[in-house]
Amino acid sequence: MVICKSPKELEKMYQAGQIVWGALEKMRTIVRPGISTKELDEFAEAFTAEHHARPAFKGYRGYPGSVCTSINQEVVHGIPSSKRKVREGDILSMDFGVELDGYFADAALTVPVGKVAPERQKLLRVTRESLEQGIEKIRPGNRLGDVSSAVQQWVEKNGFSVVREFVGHGIGTKMHEDPQVPNYGSAGQGARLQEGMVLAIEPMVNTGGPGVRILEDDWTAVTTDGSDSAHFEHTVAVTAKGPWILTRPREASGPCW
Ligand code: MF3
Ligand code: CO
Repeated sequence: MVICKSPKELEKMYQAGQIVWGALEKMRTIVRPGISTKELDEFAEAFTAEHHARPAFKGYRGYPGSVCTSINQEVVHGIPSSKRKVREGDILSMDFGVELDGYFADAALTVPVGKVAPERQKLLRVTRESLEQGIEKIRPGNRLGDVSSAVQQWVEKNGFSVVREFVGHGIGTKMHEDPQVPNYGSAGQGARLQEGMVLAIEPMVNTGGPGVRILEDDWTAVTTDGSDSAHFEHTVAVTAKGPWILTRPREASGPCW
């Protein structure tokens, strides 16, 4: 069952979203060669406490961190560690969510560490653009498949593949609500979007094949072929006027990250 939110509830989710956005924007500025993923996790944790929110991932199904930090061939759910330091040329995905006053927001981006190879720059650009393509389809009357298909088409047109094993999701008073939002599908298919629905759209894109496997830590997803992977996500509300990205400032314009 898909739960539609009232304007007042959307406003609460927007407040949660601003904390997620603020943390990720700050984290992208402190990423540099030599920083450990644990330091980023500690930053997010402190930032969240200062803003009287709760890190949504911590303790979720036993997840030990506040942020998911996934490097290069890691797709999602990398666990922050003091032993894991990023290096010049790496790409680092940071996925973060909070709960504020009973409402959730969830977002992610992938950043270059120093100067990165052109193929990696392209991967980051195409994945971000695929999220933007999906967001553009967020309006009442469109179908879920319009969103999924827009993401997939953009990725595949650019020679990359979308991960099938993980999907986006509805979000609200729980981090994961109906419906699932796959990053592949057919335009014109699936549930109709209605005012008040809120979707976390989160393309995960590999430069090689779409396959992933889980490491021994039971969390970290990596590409089976060792190719690079990127992840971008926003929490987006369906409004009469079109998409409202709750995980960035209202007045923002231009690229979504
Ligand atoms: N953005 C991810 C999701 O929607 C983050 C979950 S990580 C977990 O599932 F640790 F909380 F599982
Ligand atoms: Co999510």
